[in-house]
Amino acid sequence: MAKKLLSFHHFISLLLLLILSFQSSNGLPLKSTRRSPRLLGRFSKPTKPLLKNYKYETRYFDQNLDHFSFADLPKFRQRYLISFEHWVGPEKAGPIFFYCGNEGYIDWFAENTGFVWELAPRFGALVVFPEHRYYGESMPHGSTSEAYRNASTLSYLTAEQALADYAILLTDLKKNLSAEACPVVLFGGSYGGMLAAWMRLKYPHLSVGALASSAPVLQFEDIVPPETFYDIVSNVFRHESRSCFNTIKTSWDALLSEVHKEDGLLQLTKTFHLCQKLNSSVDLSNWWDSAYTSLAMANYPYPTEFLMPLPGDPIKEVCRKIDSCPYGTGVLECIFEGLNVYYNYTGSVDCFNLDDDPHGENGWNWQACTEMVMPMSSNRYSSMFPEFYYNYTEYKEGCWEDFKVTPRPTWITTEFGGHDFKADLKNFGSNIIFSNGLLDPWSGGSVLEDISESIVALVTEKGAHHLDLRAATSEDPNWLLEQRAKEIMLIEDWIKSYNDRKHLAEI
Ligand SMILES: *[C@@H]1O[C@H](CO)[C@@H](O)[C@H](O)[C@H]1NC(C)=O
Ligand SMILES: *[C@@H]1O[C@H](CO)[C@@H](O)[C@H](O)[C@H]1NC(C)=O
Ligand SMILES: *[C@@H]1O[C@H](CO)[C@@H](O)[C@H](O)[C@H]1NC(C)=O
Ligand SMILES: *[C@@H]1O[C@H](CO)[C@@H](O)[C@H](O)[C@H]1NC(C)=O
Ligand SMILES: *[C@@H]1O[C@H](CO)[C@@H](O)[C@H](O)[C@H]1NC(C)=O
Repeated sequence: MAKKLLSFHHFISLLLLLILSFQSSNGLPLKSTRRSPRLLGRFSKPTKPLLKNYKYETRYFDQNLDHFSFADLPKFRQRYLISFEHWVGPEKAGPIFFYCGNEGYIDWFAENTGFVWELAPRFGALVVFPEHRYYGESMPHGSTSEAYRNASTLSYLTAEQALADYAILLTDLKKNLSAEACPVVLFGGSYGGMLAAWMRLKYPHLSVGALASSAPVLQFEDIVPPETFYDIVSNVFRHESRSCFNTIKTSWDALLSEVHKEDGLLQLTKTFHLCQKLNSSVDLSNWWDSAYTSLAMANYPYPTEFLMPLPGDPIKEVCRKIDSCPYGTGVLECIFEGLNVYYNYTGSVDCFNLDDDPHGENGWNWQACTEMVMPMSSNRYSSMFPEFYYNYTEYKEGCWEDFKVTPRPTWITTEFGGHDFKADLKNFGSNIIFSNGLLDPWSGGSVLEDISESIVALVTEKGAHHLDLRAATSEDPNWLLEQRAKEIMLIEDWIKSYNDRKHLAEI
């Protein structure tokens, strides 16, 4: 149960528990913790065998567990995918496209990052997708359960260690391939985009540039207002349909009053077609929250199967269902119809299982309790989610309860910058693309304005979570084609000026 509590969007849980403990006399336990929403949540584990669209080999590399001490610790096997299919080789200084793996199975990210694969032939590039430590098959300590045992075994799960893994893997790979002189272009989406940007800044000699798509590098401390994320999700729904927004906004109260009825939980179990009897409204509200935020991320203009099988413009579809609910139907039934679009678009789900993380092995919870402290609030006026204000004391207590660890909320900005990001990067950085779509709730914590001539923001009004990294489709709108064309042009420039410099140095 403790594991369950740490699984998702906990601030909503807490709010509901608070309201409940005010309203009900049976004194529900005020037990909750809260994290930053997981960027990709449970979907970082493929739920079914992946269709392999691209040709690559799977390889393994022995990594140091701790790059920052000389303690004699056992190594672990890091998985990486590699494709030589289009590489023109070291003699022709064929570039290396290096995707900074994020919080999940690397083959799943590889299959969902078609852009990199499609660029490879054009550039004659080698393609490498390394897996992030503590995810997928790249488990230290021999197994997932050992790696996730406690705060000591988890303590090597940090962004700095992951970046060092990538730096070492890349350097060793180049040596093995006699490719030391080949230019490296970094790619990444979401947390992977943060890693790509940070790797460019921390290891400037290892790459010629980075494409950081939907990378919320500023979602820390007070750099952006804590309401940003939930305001964006809410605005997207409001913009789609004001009545849909209003129905969702009132549904949280409807849920609470249902819970207080006799057999309310049983009734909710039926209304929402749950597989198991609901034990607390929090489990249900987390499930709703998860659907709305994931819909905003995956609000792509054409059908996709990224997070879930979804129609194009899925929020339009959800709101159409909610708005077309017959007169006299209860709010909760209308919400159910809307959520069915997200959770059951294929129509093949018999009943819904709320437990999205049965083994409690989602590393993002640990990362959120250590370095990745992203303050989140939900504002009563602008948000369709229940009101909640970020409370660090509480956040910290939850982390102690779950992991016996105390977060370091200022570490990321100390290590990578953030408060004066633009001025700082203008002074010492170069060759980074921050690409974003404004429908994506994470765009609010990213870089949306050009920083310098070579650190640029490519923003689309209608894009969602790292849409630009997806494979091309016949339905791609013009604004997306334009965004990708600019990215390609910039990458070409990086490689060209690298080659020019090298050529000059040789003569
Ligand atoms: C974590 O587990 C390991 C392996 O069982 C053990 O050696 C270590 O003492 C534990 N650490 C803590 C802080 O409980
Ligand atoms: C480079 O080659 C060595 C020796 O064969 C091998 O052990 C190592 O794993 C290789 N490095 C990479 C990144 O594959
Ligand atoms: C409610 O609790 C029971 C017993 O712990 C558990 O088996 C069941 O899965 C829970 N229901 C939900 C919806 O999580
Ligand atoms: C999923 O959709 C199908 C087809 O509309 C429906 O028959 C089924 O009851 C739905 N599943 C749930 C859990 O509501
Ligand atoms: C924040 O949480 C702590 C610990 O639960 C509590 O004592 C405090 O009153 C809260 N602060 C605010 C402003 O709600």
